[in-house]
Amino acid sequence: MSPSFVCNCNGVTEQKLIAAIAQRKITDLSKLMLRTGAGMSCGRCRPALKVILERNKVVDPNPQQEIDWNQAGQPPSPAS
Ligand code: FES
Repeated sequence: MSPSFVCNCNGVTEQKLIAAIAQRKITDLSKLMLRTGAGMSCGRCRPALKVILERNKVVDPNPQQEIDWNQAGQPPSPAS
């Protein structure tokens, strides 16, 4: 069975896209395009790339949050 290409211009399959999303923890379209080459020519496949990205991107259940101390004020004292 021949692979089905999502991006015909650059020969990129859905399996390759899903693997890149998982391995590189890709969450935005431009990074997916740069990493795989998909969508870099005519652009006709970009809506499909967005759908595949949304369905397969890894959501971090415990995201690291950066604290902007200028906005948050002083850090809490360890003695409190
Ligand atoms: S089909 Fe993907 S860039 Fe043309």
